[in-house]
Amino acid sequence: MSEAKRQAAEKAIEYVEDGMVVGVGTGSTVAYFIDALAGIKHRIAGAVSSSMQSSEQLRRHGIELLDLNAAGPLPLYVDGADECDPHKRLIKGGGAALTREKIIAGASEIFVCVIDPAKQVDVLGRFPLPLEVIPMARSLVAREIVSRTGGQPVWREGTVTDNGNWILDVHGLSIIDPMDMESTLNQIPGVVSVGLFARRPADVVIVGGAPATVL
Ligand code: A5P
Repeated sequence: MSEAKRQAAEKAIEYVEDGMVVGVGTGSTVAYFIDALAGIKHRIAGAVSSSMQSSEQLRRHGIELLDLNAAGPLPLYVDGADECDPHKRLIKGGGAALTREKIIAGASEIFVCVIDPAKQVDVLGRFPLPLEVIPMARSLVAREIVSRTGGQPVWREGTVTDNGNWILDVHGLSIIDPMDMESTLNQIPGVVSVGLFARRPADVVIVGGAPATVL
């Protein structure tokens, strides 16, 4: 699948315009995008990064990193996903960067999501849904998830997010109404963010292949 990831990521370069500040996601697919972005780094004003991992790669390539508060609304955000449904709604957070990813997606005019074909599903939920939680609320949030959704939360033990929080992965969900699920989970005290991108879906999805498909 890494060839498909590379094909999708390289196609996304077509959305980058001169002088842009580009929002950059996290993960193995986006890593290809960052490598491709390095080739046109003199044409862009810089990047806003969603994780320490991506920041490090951007820095290595000499791409200027900007703070989102200073950069303001972004014209473009490019990121991967763990699952994508036919309405371009997503599950994200396999790499634990969901909160900053959601912030940048929310601040961006166009969200281009780059995936390999295995990420396409009819109904979201086969991939365990990640939630970032405040550490002291882990057990409370887990109990609430069980009673409100019937899903089975599993603590991603050992993972600490860039924000100092923990991750619960919710197994066994079949997310028929993603907007409703996103709201339900967001209301649990101690939840920082939910890796469901239904209220802010992707605008464009690029599926890797030869040639890549643009949805
Ligand atoms: C990071 O937290 C995630 O949202 C990634 O975007 C997602 O896990 C996709 O990762 P890959 O591109 O590595 O498959």
